[in-house]
Amino acid sequence: MTSLKFINDCGDFCLENADRISGIYFPCVNEAGMISAVTPLMGGDSKTGQNSFLMEPASDETLRESRASRNFWVRFSDGEIWSAVGMSAKQIAERFTSDHDVLKVSGGFLWHKTELSGKRLMAEVLTFVPCDNEAVEIMKVTLKNTGDKEEDIICTAAVPVYGRSADNIRDHRHVTSLLQRAAVTDHGIEFTNSLTFDERGHRKGENIYRVFASEDNGAFPTGCLPELYKFTGEGGTLDNPESIYENSPFYSSGYTVGGYEMIGAVRFSEYRLEKGESKSYIIVCGVNSDNKKYLSETAVNKALEENKAYWKAKTENLILTGDRNFDLWYKWVCIQPVLRRICGCSFLPHHDYGRGGRGWRDLWQDCLALLLTEPEKMRNIIINNFCGVRADGTNATIIGSKQGEFIADRNAIVRLWMDHGMWPVLTLDLYIGQTGDMGLLLEKCGYFTDNRTQRCSRLSDISLYRHEGTILEHILTENVTMFFDVGAHGYMRLHDADWNDGLDMASENGESVAFTSAYCRNFRLIAGYLYRLDESGIKETAIFEPLYRLMLTDKRSYSDTSALNAALTEYCNSIETYCEKQTVSCRSIADILISMSDHLTDKICSEQLVSDGAEQCWFNGYYDNRGKMVEGLHGEQVRMMLTSQVFPLMSGVADRKQAEAVIRAVNWYLCFPSRGGVCLNTDFNEIKLDMGRMFGFAYGHKENGAVFSHMAVMYAYALYLRGFYEEGDKVIQQLYEQCSDFEKSRIYPGIPEYFDINGRGMYPYLTGAASWLVLTVQTMMFGISGLYGDMKISPAISAHRFDEYGKASVSFSFCGKRFMCEYINENRPGPTEYKIKKAFLNDNELTVSDTLVIERSIIEGLENENTIRIYLGKD
Ligand code: G1P
Repeated sequence: MTSLKFINDCGDFCLENADRISGIYFPCVNEAGMISAVTPLMGGDSKTGQNSFLMEPASDETLRESRASRNFWVRFSDGEIWSAVGMSAKQIAERFTSDHDVLKVSGGFLWHKTELSGKRLMAEVLTFVPCDNEAVEIMKVTLKNTGDKEEDIICTAAVPVYGRSADNIRDHRHVTSLLQRAAVTDHGIEFTNSLTFDERGHRKGENIYRVFASEDNGAFPTGCLPELYKFTGEGGTLDNPESIYENSPFYSSGYTVGGYEMIGAVRFSEYRLEKGESKSYIIVCGVNSDNKKYLSETAVNKALEENKAYWKAKTENLILTGDRNFDLWYKWVCIQPVLRRICGCSFLPHHDYGRGGRGWRDLWQDCLALLLTEPEKMRNIIINNFCGVRADGTNATIIGSKQGEFIADRNAIVRLWMDHGMWPVLTLDLYIGQTGDMGLLLEKCGYFTDNRTQRCSRLSDISLYRHEGTILEHILTENVTMFFDVGAHGYMRLHDADWNDGLDMASENGESVAFTSAYCRNFRLIAGYLYRLDESGIKETAIFEPLYRLMLTDKRSYSDTSALNAALTEYCNSIETYCEKQTVSCRSIADILISMSDHLTDKICSEQLVSDGAEQCWFNGYYDNRGKMVEGLHGEQVRMMLTSQVFPLMSGVADRKQAEAVIRAVNWYLCFPSRGGVCLNTDFNEIKLDMGRMFGFAYGHKENGAVFSHMAVMYAYALYLRGFYEEGDKVIQQLYEQCSDFEKSRIYPGIPEYFDINGRGMYPYLTGAASWLVLTVQTMMFGISGLYGDMKISPAISAHRFDEYGKASVSFSFCGKRFMCEYINENRPGPTEYKIKKAFLNDNELTVSDTLVIERSIIEGLENENTIRIYLGKD
């Protein structure tokens, strides 16, 4: 029986019998780019990028293989060998017997510890990546003699070193081993490559991978063995290595070798471990870093404390509710956006695809949570991200880790995701709300230029004109072009997919009604900024003259799709070369955006409601590649997708009655509490080649009908936004309950990308769901949001979230100050019943009308730490 529980109020947890859980791993990362994944049996991998994997890239299926494990061997004087991480052939064979070693894992921000109780010794292995500038992973192995006599032991750390690009797994694995070089030093082994063969071609090897080690007192190792074949021996394996079994001689400092698969095998001097005595060893693995500085117990302890403080600071937006487990789980969710900022969507074992960098939509959505914690730092990041927009309204799809590093597409495929233009406005809107910084809209930045033209439909060799313009012009370009990029039914073309990456086979005739709704909201948000600029005296702004011409398209032709497409082509042609700017009235272009939004809203509401022929009705969200409506009744079968409901709700396209109907239908057809709540779609029972690869996935997995946390949380957000508080709360509660029901979810605390058909959490840590959850909890549930820089407080906390005294609180940053906002709801009515009765800011009573707004000028004058107290009650 396995169970996971929190062991203190910091969010540290422990998991008993952790070796009986497959597919679980813990992230240890730092800003220097070291990314390690560690399993209970010390499997996983570590790397600093696609071309610099220190350990062999791990996938879900390779996690439990001994070649993926950092091992630590103990050889007793009677010849018995034992792995301190539980990865010897004998221990593996005993795993399902009553004779097995007992393994417990604990984890915290951001360290991982295994405790293995063997028959003669107890081993504790602490792993973390320090929060400084070194790309290293530190392991401290402590052995305790728990037996009844002293033990003479010889210990050997053994970390298999892959030391090259992930590409080389299937691109010349053996040939690239011929490029490997190793040199034994006083502290361990240095591995280099004479050349590298990877996506950049054949180049001189530049990376140095190191496995260094010392005893706790700083004593040097006695010898090292770099060649994997010598370590395992003829016929041996990594979990039964001959060199450990036979205590074969290792090499001293100065030994060099090349041309083989390698291992960082480092041996320590023989030691007599008295009964009850403990002894520690330090192993530091790194890429191009100074490993030596951690080779003492003092240095490791100091690095660990710094690491804990660093990650604690990332969880400062805390909540306190009546459910302590929920609050602690939420802490883990809060660090997920940081993890994705560092890892992208590529570098943890489930994410065994991609080549690093961050995808366009993921980048913008991760900013949502980061904006709530460090808004002031976000201004430059936002401006920089906008430099990825092309003047034709499309964008680079991958953003590198350095400022201004954009890549059209890593796999050099010319594609267009039709949702990409939508996300930046959401992030910008949150930024403007939090800061009131309307000036950002008028900041200028460049456009991304490459060889893709005509909205990614053509490759050209001409060097395109490098345009520059305001951020406002960038968002207009992205959004307005979408209004004209419509298919036969007048909805925005799906192109190569929208948010759902799996809808990738309907590029000719597919349309996304779902994201047409989403863009409707953007049109109104942008119009809102323009009206506000106008009111503040900025009556005019300069935009591309062809963009203005495009916007002036006669409203009477909004229903004429060919006319709209033709106007867009003309725009794309004009923008390819130098084009003039036109000064336009903010108010008049805002009016045009409102007309666009109204046109599409009316159209969606009048054409897209489908039903099951009985009581339920909902929105169709797509047209397939045959131009057919995807959702509704298909023969006897109900076809319904969650995305198609989320955006009409979020954008306000659905009116109140339609919204209520949609919620009923979602509850009826898409809700599976035992799997985590609302799933993505009903079972279409068809491999829809006219829609996309998602229909090839077995039903209930990933984009085909899984409970996909990201969309489920966006659904919750939309429900709160539309005032369906209890429904929104229920969606979050179901996700949380699934995550924390370890028997089903099998994940460490946090929210995974999705739950499979059996309710198991998949693709942990790196998901946009985390950002949206933080956004929803803070701005919707706890109701702390920004209103053009002022703080607006309108809680929608459900009754069950208050503690036994009727209290719930949230801590957060706003305008560079820290706040703790406590809600007191003594009689616990629900959010549709209670109102703010009284409010205090640092004991000064605030005036409460319908809503509570604290002006920025007041906030600016406050001390750093502040308390807000809000009394809730019925009228
Ligand atoms: C992942 C991708 C995201 C995509 C989604 C659905 O979601 O990262 O870009 O929109 O799948 O295909 P995640 O849960 O990781 O945010």
